[in-house]
Amino acid sequence: MDCRPLIDQFIRRYGESPETIRVVYAPGRVNLIGEHTDYNGGRVLPAALRLGTWIVCRPRPDRRILLQADDLPDQVDVSLDELDQYKSLPWGNYQLGALWALQTEGYEPTGGEYLYHDTLPHGAGLSSSAAIEVGTVWAAAIMAGHLLTREKAGRLGHLAENRFIGVQCGIMDQFASALGKKGHALHLDCATQDHRYVPLHLQDIRLVMVNTNRKRSLATAPYNERRSQCEEALATINRWGHNYAHLCTIPETDWGQLEPLLRENDQTTGQVLWKRTKHVVEENQRVLSMADALEHSDWNRIGQLMRQSHESLRDLYEVTGPELDALAEAAWQTEGVVGARMTGAGFGGCTVNLVNENQLEHFMEAVGRQYRQATGICPTFYVSDSADGVGEVSQPCLSW
Ligand code: GLA
Repeated sequence: MDCRPLIDQFIRRYGESPETIRVVYAPGRVNLIGEHTDYNGGRVLPAALRLGTWIVCRPRPDRRILLQADDLPDQVDVSLDELDQYKSLPWGNYQLGALWALQTEGYEPTGGEYLYHDTLPHGAGLSSSAAIEVGTVWAAAIMAGHLLTREKAGRLGHLAENRFIGVQCGIMDQFASALGKKGHALHLDCATQDHRYVPLHLQDIRLVMVNTNRKRSLATAPYNERRSQCEEALATINRWGHNYAHLCTIPETDWGQLEPLLRENDQTTGQVLWKRTKHVVEENQRVLSMADALEHSDWNRIGQLMRQSHESLRDLYEVTGPELDALAEAAWQTEGVVGARMTGAGFGGCTVNLVNENQLEHFMEAVGRQYRQATGICPTFYVSDSADGVGEVSQPCLSW
């Protein structure tokens, strides 16, 4: 992206000042597999995207924080001394949460002026909020002269989401935005936060996200309910003398013996807890298989794993819904598709698809048509390469 127009706009909005203008980019992410495993101490395999949040910023000598976005009328003007009064702002709370997280962990941000430009759809399951949180943490840290590791930036973004915004999400999104690597997926163990990069070798295969355009909000969705069901399942299993730290640490070999324990709850609860646990344990295993399949460019296996993941999220974890199912089914029937599944929290949002480049137009036409017929909604398609994690744009006029 050419940042010059954004910098010009920043100067028109905030005026000239002797302080240096900085530009930061933080990517959104798409999760290739490993869904609803992060808060269960499991593995995930996201890739950072070339869709994300651009932040033009400049420090101020006082303690005021001014926030604007290039496509919104809202303007925020608050003091660094009263951030926690603004947790419920309709816009600007993610940014303020990031500054609050820095303060909470003993970093001292300076006052500053910020202009945001998003190339990522909001509320579509591609982590627009994580990009804002991690990007703001990075921008504020470099303006104040704090050197953060990428892990720390991810953790601070996560702290903002959990404690300031109040969404009990796992660490995946903020880590993907902070630690992404072009041409790679991030294989992250969420229990230990150990990670390694898996090369994508995509060649003529493109990463395509399809938006159901069914609006959803993580804060109001049954996300927290799934999370507590998993906690209940773990507590039930451990009451029988086990000592698992997380659902994902249950070895597959123990699974057979544990199943009756969950089913011994009252029947309906037991059945629900069993389904949730089965998804989590098997999905965690699929992440390992997927990393291996990607390393060997085993496209058949990749397609199977993506389909199994979607079906498990539909039947066992029950977070897909008619729109995501319609998109995934349309993709599975379309020529040139290596694999397709829902991505992110579910309940709406996007699917992730691996599509042969020369079938891209056909894919959009066929999936678009079938989805419209099934739901009456027009989907939106985003084709994006993988990207590096958060960072300062040192030549702010890069064209990419
Ligand atoms: C959302 C959350 C993540 C993760 C996914 C589901 O994106 O923010 O932490 O739990 O849902 O895999």
